[in-house]
Amino acid sequence: MASEEHTAGGSAVPLRLAVIIGSTRVGRMGETVAKWFAGRARDRPDLAVSLVDLADYAFPGHYPEQSSPSMRRFTAAVGEADAFAVVTPEYNRSFPASLKQAIDYAYDEWQAKPVGFVAYGSGSSGLYAVEQLRTVFSALHVVTVRDWVGLDLLGDDVAGSGEPYDTDDRVPAVAAMLDQLTWWGRALRDARHAQPYCS
Ligand SMILES: Cc1cc2nc3c(=O)[nH]c(=O)nc-3n(C[C@H](O)[C@H](O)[C@H](O)COP(=O)(O)O)c2cc1C
Repeated sequence: MASEEHTAGGSAVPLRLAVIIGSTRVGRMGETVAKWFAGRARDRPDLAVSLVDLADYAFPGHYPEQSSPSMRRFTAAVGEADAFAVVTPEYNRSFPASLKQAIDYAYDEWQAKPVGFVAYGSGSSGLYAVEQLRTVFSALHVVTVRDWVGLDLLGDDVAGSGEPYDTDDRVPAVAAMLDQLTWWGRALRDARHAQPYCS
């Protein structure tokens, strides 16, 4: 018989990490960056990684009175995850509208879970996008982990294809972010199983 730590909420069960591609722009870099990051996360046996690509959702142009099938499919994907890595560009010192639209469709499904950030920009490494996302996620009772991964597309962080280089400073940056996500993800998963969140 499985020991308690091997049951659904136990720490031996891989944490379900959803990697969210925040840009839906035609010709976006986000998909390449997200697939690179998901590949690094998949190297870890303690994570079960899925990609949530906002470009796969035909969200309505106006916030509807009743949720649409695409909105429900997105909130279900958020609800199934234990932790999130949001891959976001910086647009005019913030994050893209496509990402805010999607974030706002879920509420309970975000709660008492951690999020980390992989950000990129042309000139900046996405710091403004990350800091604004921290504010948004705090309203949703999401824990944002301290360490994040930043990429300057105009510098020497990425190859011509857009694939980030696994440099001596980037490998530990990815590891630190994933370590923090995993710690919080396990702790909050156990806490959610022990008692409902108090929002
Ligand atoms: C509308 C728009 C605004 C942008 N604003 C910024 C910015 O404020 N800072 C920055 O570093 N890069 C900025 N950029 C450059 C983007 O970070 C870069 O084009 C990146 O590839 C966009 O991500 P995506 O290709 O995944 O959509 C902006 C790009 C767009 C399209």
